[in-house]
Amino acid sequence: MTDVQVTPSPETELRSTPALVVRGLVKRYDATLALGGVDVEIRRGGVTAVVGANGSGKTTLLKVVSGLVPATAGSVHGPDGRAVHRLTDAQRAGIALVPQEPTVAGHLTVWQNVALGRPSAARGPFLADRRARRLAAEASAGLLPSHLLDQPASALNKSSRQLVQLAAAVAREPAVLLLDEPTAVLDEDGVRALHGLVRRFVGGGGTVVLVSHRLRDVLDLAGSVVVLRNGLVGHAGPVEPGTEREIVALLSADERPDRRPHRPDPTHVALEATGLRGWRGLQVDSLVVHRGEIVGIAGQSGSGRSRLAAVLAGAHPVSGQIQVDGRTVPTGSIAAAQAAGIAYIPEDRQATAIMANQSAAANLLVGQSERRLRRGPFRRRKAERAHAEELIDRFEVRPPEPDRPAGLLSGGNQQKLVVARALARTRVVVVADEPTQGVDASARGAIHAALFDAAADGAGIVAVCSEFEELFEISDRIVVLCDGRIVLDRPRSQLTPGAVLAASLGSAVPADDPPGTASPDPTPAGRPPEGQP
Ligand SMILES: Nc1ncnc2c1ncn2[C@@H]1O[C@H](COP(=O)(O)OP(=O)(O)OP(=O)(O)O)[C@@H](O)[C@H]1O
Ligand SMILES: [Mg+2]
Repeated sequence: MTDVQVTPSPETELRSTPALVVRGLVKRYDATLALGGVDVEIRRGGVTAVVGANGSGKTTLLKVVSGLVPATAGSVHGPDGRAVHRLTDAQRAGIALVPQEPTVAGHLTVWQNVALGRPSAARGPFLADRRARRLAAEASAGLLPSHLLDQPASALNKSSRQLVQLAAAVAREPAVLLLDEPTAVLDEDGVRALHGLVRRFVGGGGTVVLVSHRLRDVLDLAGSVVVLRNGLVGHAGPVEPGTEREIVALLSADERPDRRPHRPDPTHVALEATGLRGWRGLQVDSLVVHRGEIVGIAGQSGSGRSRLAAVLAGAHPVSGQIQVDGRTVPTGSIAAAQAAGIAYIPEDRQATAIMANQSAAANLLVGQSERRLRRGPFRRRKAERAHAEELIDRFEVRPPEPDRPAGLLSGGNQQKLVVARALARTRVVVVADEPTQGVDASARGAIHAALFDAAADGAGIVAVCSEFEELFEISDRIVVLCDGRIVLDRPRSQLTPGAVLAASLGSAVPADDPPGTASPDPTPAGRPPEGQP
């Protein structure tokens, strides 16, 4: 079934011409050369992946191709063979962008947001038009359950909001769909829905350009790949066995940077939550995180993963008790949680945790402990500066300029600032909601190393992970949520991804299930346990 039609039915002679032709494309933002002369042809039909490190120019390329920002030099030609200079040219040519930053209007309903993607459908003073709603429902098929259509978009979680953006783009019936890291914020179900959509769209003759840091997206979907390096095309060609290895190398973390071994201390509780109740049905009877322990939180979207993280970090009041190092912390106060030694990496960090107009250094130093830096104004400034520079280096923020306004960094580099800030300090507890979302493979390695470091320093870590691979890579213990409750809480060594998935879907997992995995060899899937010296 396909509800996607490709608008300009390609003339026979257009069939062989590329969907996009980019020539000598230069984009300069003040002093930054984001694209340094890019030549790319995107063939018609199929999926072309665009990959590269954070800051290599992927988003900039999509923004110029979709007419959102003007090129400094060079040209873009669309599927109709005509030049694209501005937004209206791109719209006319059937080029639709799903941006990296969320653009959903929270006060509108889901269907209204989807209908906004297609101005003609949404025409009229009010969007309350039957036809628009029907078209929105069609565009959302396979992406969103129909009962969500009349909900306000603000009620959706981040994954569903991303699916709304996708539906809005599809509602435009584009010829070329540009997707900027669509899977970074999607949960497992969302990723499946997206992959299905991309396949249907391409099956109907559409062209997809897909920016992603996830190997699985590229290898499962893309027929060709463009590798950007520093604003230039480093490689372009089909995805085939020969190039596959190169892509894998690019998108997989390098050899794990030396991770300090950490070991959970069973006699020392860092965080204990008991009887948490409230906030849309959250019901956590008991969660214990030991010092030196990394607890991975899994669950389907809507299961309460992010709610639990936010509650632990004081971002939302609930009834019940939270203790840090044996001392009770009032719930619902971020300040109190921070004072007790809880660092928080929120899910929606670009929206909530970045001060876009402030420098990278200022963003890194927010909440910096006074004690460490109380040394008189001059020496303090120097110490702050050195500290910011060290973090920029360690977390590979690019470009490595402490004075650059954070809002001018690429999406992944903004994420690194928030993570660096939370992980840099000595903490009793770190609560991290999807700590590596949107960052490239190399920074992912640095963030994992920093989590292991914090654990080795004796912090207890709670990390929400929707990617099973990451969950199993970093967790000492895995806690699965379903409908706001903890349905499974067990050492990683006794679990398999299948058991975690089953529990997250509400199936009971027998005490020693799956047979054989709780054997004396505690190594799931042949991976050596992390952090065991
Ligand atoms: N509005 C802007 N003003 C100044 N510099 C910018 C602006 N937008 C992007 N840049 C810079 O241009 C370069 C390319 O950024 P871009 O957002 O295209 O990277 P990206 O490949 O999408 O990275 P990521 O994987 O982190 O999303 C970066 O050095 C970035 O700091
Ligand atoms: Mg980007």
